[in-house]
Amino acid sequence: MKKIAVLTSGGDAPGMNAAIRAITRMALDRGLEVMGVQRGYNGLINGELFQMDRHSVSDIIHRGGTILRTARCDEFKTEEGRKKAANVLKVYGIDGLVVIGGDGSFTGARLLSQLGVSTVGIPGTIDNDLSYTDYTLGFDTALNTVLDAINKLRDTSTSHERVSIVEVMGRHCGDIALFAGIAGGAESIIVPEMSFDQDELCKTILSGKLKGKMHNLIILAEGVGGAEDLAKHVEEITGIETRATILGHIQRGGSPSAFDRVLASRMGAKAVEVLLEGKSSRVIGIRGGQIIDDDINEALAMPRKFDEKLYEIATALSY
Ligand code: ADP
Ligand code: F6P
Repeated sequence: MKKIAVLTSGGDAPGMNAAIRAITRMALDRGLEVMGVQRGYNGLINGELFQMDRHSVSDIIHRGGTILRTARCDEFKTEEGRKKAANVLKVYGIDGLVVIGGDGSFTGARLLSQLGVSTVGIPGTIDNDLSYTDYTLGFDTALNTVLDAINKLRDTSTSHERVSIVEVMGRHCGDIALFAGIAGGAESIIVPEMSFDQDELCKTILSGKLKGKMHNLIILAEGVGGAEDLAKHVEEITGIETRATILGHIQRGGSPSAFDRVLASRMGAKAVEVLLEGKSSRVIGIRGGQIIDDDINEALAMPRKFDEKLYEIATALSY
């Protein structure tokens, strides 16, 4: 292993830059050459690569987004596209590729490794939807962004004695809603993994009102459905003024939290170590506080996990 490359792919996540920095500096420290690939798999197919040195990653540990830019690339989903990408790596003399992204990007990396490229994945997505790892990069920062919004919405909801429905991201995963709901003291948390009945929700809101609750905060994961429609229904049934807030892409931006910066640094270092050990088709994660690497096929095949115990705790604490 003499030369490696790094790219970011799919939805961006705070902490991606800290990971790029760690990969680059650790690789240089171990005597490897490093190239940055721009715009994910698109850039790989089109040969958008540049040489990186220690200075290329200066002043980025605190920045959200990704200096390498990110993209979604349909061409990479074809065998022909992946062959082009593998050829570009060959032409540049690159022996190993680190892919920072979510499950889609990992699927791409897995297929690329079948063409003889050594690949390692770092989980970069705010959704925390990869089962093999306790946390993905960006999740903690996104949670703190959501929490900040919930705190503000609590103020105005209390003043007006309203119900506030906050729609958060997470694609098909309810982790952002669950963790932010607990941290924000939400009255109800609605996630795709747990069944939910609109009329039961209305009853709970009304009983909260009877108990003297000044507001009612409901955190809704995007995978369940629209906040606006739910707000209309709740207002109609309960007669309590209800507002919907869709947090959207602000959840993906911002300076990474200390947790995400440290996680990115540890995962980036581990990715280089794994490539130097001659391994391929691996993904880096954290389990029980330890940084681990797993086989990419096994990691992607793991069934989705949802912490039902935590959900139970959230329910018990909410009233
Ligand atoms: P994420 O990595 O955040 O889950 P996407 O699902 O959008 O994001 O995937 C990012 C990119 O990974 C896609 O645009 C595509 O280039 C690549 N990718 C996703 N799924 C596949 C697949 N089945 N085969 C090959 N490449 C894929
Ligand atoms: O994968 C992260 C994520 O933020 C999801 O939670 C969300 O559904 C999706 O990306 C939106 O991505 P975009 O608007 O970039 O297509």
